[in-house]
Amino acid sequence: MSEQGRIPQFRSFVDKTDYAFIERAFEKNYIAEGPHAAEFERKLLDMIGARYGCFASNGTVAIYLALRALGIKPGDEVIVQNITFIASANAVEMTGARPVFADVLSYRDLSIDLSKVRLTPGTRAMIVCPLFGTACSNIEEVRDYCAGNNIILVEDAAQALGIRNDGGHCGTFGKAGTFSFYADKTITTGEGGFVVTDDEEVYERMRYLRNQGRKKSGTFIHPEIGYNFRITDIQACLGLAQLAKIETIVREKQKIYELYRGHLGDSVEFLKLRDDFTHIPFRVVIFVRDAEKTMAYMSDRGIEPRSVFYPLHKQPCYRSLGCRDEDFRNSVECFERGICLPTWVGLQPEQIKYISDVVKEAIAAQ
Ligand SMILES: Cc1ncc(COP(=O)(O)O)c(C=O)c1O
Repeated sequence: MSEQGRIPQFRSFVDKTDYAFIERAFEKNYIAEGPHAAEFERKLLDMIGARYGCFASNGTVAIYLALRALGIKPGDEVIVQNITFIASANAVEMTGARPVFADVLSYRDLSIDLSKVRLTPGTRAMIVCPLFGTACSNIEEVRDYCAGNNIILVEDAAQALGIRNDGGHCGTFGKAGTFSFYADKTITTGEGGFVVTDDEEVYERMRYLRNQGRKKSGTFIHPEIGYNFRITDIQACLGLAQLAKIETIVREKQKIYELYRGHLGDSVEFLKLRDDFTHIPFRVVIFVRDAEKTMAYMSDRGIEPRSVFYPLHKQPCYRSLGCRDEDFRNSVECFERGICLPTWVGLQPEQIKYISDVVKEAIAAQ
């Protein structure tokens, strides 16, 4: 065990300042989705640089909402980057469409490999995911490819709030982009999601779908079939509190990355970053020869490591799709070598040094 006690994989950065913001919902006696959600939405849209936005109950539902509003339906095929959280594929399955996986560019570059995409007459959309705090290395190429092949591009930018360059913010390169506010995301509302689009029609369809098939609550006439994907103003107040300190969060996370880089040097490889975009490490990801052995060593010494995402094509729940490892070599290598290091605001420099020393010891012991 480390001298500091067990070091968890993540901790939310919530404190008394967040609690003070939540009181605002009580002061206005407005706890369902209302004025604070409207303010949170405006601030997010300003930051992301998108025209329209809709909240959703979480990041998974946000992807589903986007896909449904874009007309994805049973029988369609949706290409999904093979290394991502399973929600990207499950949201496709929720629409009744079929996810079709495509390998990533390399074990250190998790962007979709367009040369591995297999289009069919049923292909309607593609989901790409800027992961672990950097943008997709080929997002402009992906955008052009989708436009050239008449495919709808959706960015699952769950982990990518705040990541942008002069060309735009992650989530704004396609027809829709989605974000998550789960407890380990750059800013959190506990659970929560957000969809952005510049397309007014898509936005209008989302408004119906997320609010029981009507635009405004308070009426019982429902022109369309819809659902309840709303959030609460308590969550929105927490979101506003988190946005107020996002600069600190970003600075601290970048500092943690630099400390790991300094301590670990060339003893490991790091995720390939896109230098012209902001880098806000969701997790610091390293690659070693044997991730499983290294993580076991770390775990025995009081550190909670985490693997990178299990490749979608190997997921037991998607076995029926009949995918083969030989078509997804980079994803397999990524899983075998990748480790997510603890990366949360409040992690102390001594803890980062300790984690780095343990990683180096683990490598030397193999
Ligand atoms: C890449 C990615 N997509 C989707 C999600 C799903 O978001 P949520 O957990 O809010 O449903 C997550 C996060 O947890 C994620 O990391």
